[in-house]
Amino acid sequence: MKYIPEPFRIKMVEKIKMLTREEREQRIKAADYNLFGLHAQDVYIDLLTDSGTGAMSSDQWSGVMLGDEAYAGSKSYHNLIKAGKDIFGYDYIQPVHQGRAAEKVLFPLFLSKGKYAISNTFFDTTRAHVELAGARAIDCVSEEAKKPAVRAPFKGNMDIEKLEKTINELGAENVGLIVLTITNNSAGGQPVSMENIKATADICKKYNIVMEIDAARFAENAFFIKRDEAGYAHKPLPVIIREMFSYGDIFHMSSKKDAIVNIGGILGVKDGANPIIAGIKANCISYEGFYTYGGLSGRDMEALAIGLYEGIDEDFLRYRIGQCEYLAAQLDEAGIAYQSPVGGHGLFIDAAAMYPQIPHHEFPAQVLAIELYKEAGIRTCDIGSYMLGNDPDTGVQLKSDFEFTRFAIPRRVYTQAHFDIMAEALIAIKSRAHEQKRGLKILWEPPILRHFQAKLEWI
Ligand code: F0G
Repeated sequence: MKYIPEPFRIKMVEKIKMLTREEREQRIKAADYNLFGLHAQDVYIDLLTDSGTGAMSSDQWSGVMLGDEAYAGSKSYHNLIKAGKDIFGYDYIQPVHQGRAAEKVLFPLFLSKGKYAISNTFFDTTRAHVELAGARAIDCVSEEAKKPAVRAPFKGNMDIEKLEKTINELGAENVGLIVLTITNNSAGGQPVSMENIKATADICKKYNIVMEIDAARFAENAFFIKRDEAGYAHKPLPVIIREMFSYGDIFHMSSKKDAIVNIGGILGVKDGANPIIAGIKANCISYEGFYTYGGLSGRDMEALAIGLYEGIDEDFLRYRIGQCEYLAAQLDEAGIAYQSPVGGHGLFIDAAAMYPQIPHHEFPAQVLAIELYKEAGIRTCDIGSYMLGNDPDTGVQLKSDFEFTRFAIPRRVYTQAHFDIMAEALIAIKSRAHEQKRGLKILWEPPILRHFQAKLEWI
C-alpha cells in the first residue's frame, strides 16, 4: 500500500521526545491509568484526539495577524459568516467557541425532561448535553456498524427502520431532535451516505421533527460520498457538501476537526426566518459572548474562515484518508481487527477482538490504550464501555456496542515513519495479548463524562 505524499511542505516543527519504557510505566501509573492525565510532553505520538490538534497553514497564521478584535460586528466575524454561508448554504451562521458550546446553546431550546433525542450515534459530549437538558439520548446506528470485521461502505448510517420504530414507540411529540452525526465518530469515523441523509430527513419531515446535523467531520464525509456513492464521483466536493446540508434544518460543528483550527465552532440555521435564531442569540450572549464572536477572538474567526476552505480541499482529504489506509494495510497483514473500512479521522482498533478474555466491564479498549503508551509512547483513547459510562437512571455500567481503542489522527502533523511506529507497536502488543489475564477497575469517577477524569487500577 503506497503512502500518499503530503500535499504540503513543513515550515515549522515542534520537538518531541521518547521516554524509556520504565519512565512511561511510572508516568501512566501516576496518571491513575487515565491517558487524559498524562503530561503531553511525556507522549511521543499523540493520537488522543484529532480535535484542535491539527497544524494550521501559513495562510491561517497570516489570518491570525489580520484578526479584527472589535467586540461587535468585526471584519473577521463577517469573513467567517461569508465562508459559512458559501460552504453550507445556510442563512444564519453563529460562531461559538467549540462543538459542545453549540450543544449547550442549542439543545435546551428543543429538549427538556420527558423528551428524547435520537441519533445514528451520539458523541459523548453531545449525549451529555442531551442529558444535561433533562432529556434522554437514543442511538439507532446501522447493524453493520456493530460488526467491525464486516467491510461495508457507509457504516455510519442511521438505521431508518429502527428510527421510525423508535419514534412511534416514544411518540413523535416527545422526540425533540434527530441528530445525524457525520461522520459517525463513535462508530469508527464511519461516513453516512447521501441516500441515508435524505432518508433521515424524510422521516423528520413525516413526523415534523427538527433535523440537526452534527457536522464535526463533514468534509471527510463528503469525500467518502464522492469516492464510494453511486452518482457522486464527478461532482465537486463543494456541490456534495451543499447537498448534504440541504437536507438538514440546523447544524452544529466543532471546527477543531475538519476546519483545522485549534479552537472554534459553528452553529447554522438554514432558514433565516426560523424563530429559533432569537433563542440561539440569547443563549449565546448569556453563555458564549456577544453573537458576533461567540467566545472566539477575531483572530480565531479569521483562521477558521480560511481553514473551512482548506479542510474541503480534495488533495488534502485524499492524503488524509490515505494515511489511515496505509496503517490499515499493515494491520490487515498482521491480522489485527479494526472497524473496517477505515474511518475518516482515524483507526478504531477492535480491542474486544484483541483481548477476548477481558469483559466489557474491565475495559479492554482502555487496556490496549495503556499498553500502547507503555510500548511506544503512543497516546490513544477508549471509545467503548469505559467511555460510555453508567446508565443515568440506574447507575449500572452500560455495555457499549463497540470496544474500540481510537487512533485519532491529527491533521497535517505526523509523517509516514510515525505511522510505521504505530503499526509496529500494535503488532508487538498483539503477540502477547493472550498473556493479559484481567483488565481495569474504577477507583473513582465523576457522575458525567467520567472517562476524562476517572482514576483506574489493574484488577
Ligand atoms: N460532535 C462530535 C461528533 C465530536 O466528535 C465532538 C468532539 C463534538 C461534537 C464536541 O466538540 O470537542 O469541539 O466541544 N470530539 C472530540 C473527539 C473531542 O476527540 O472526538 P468539541
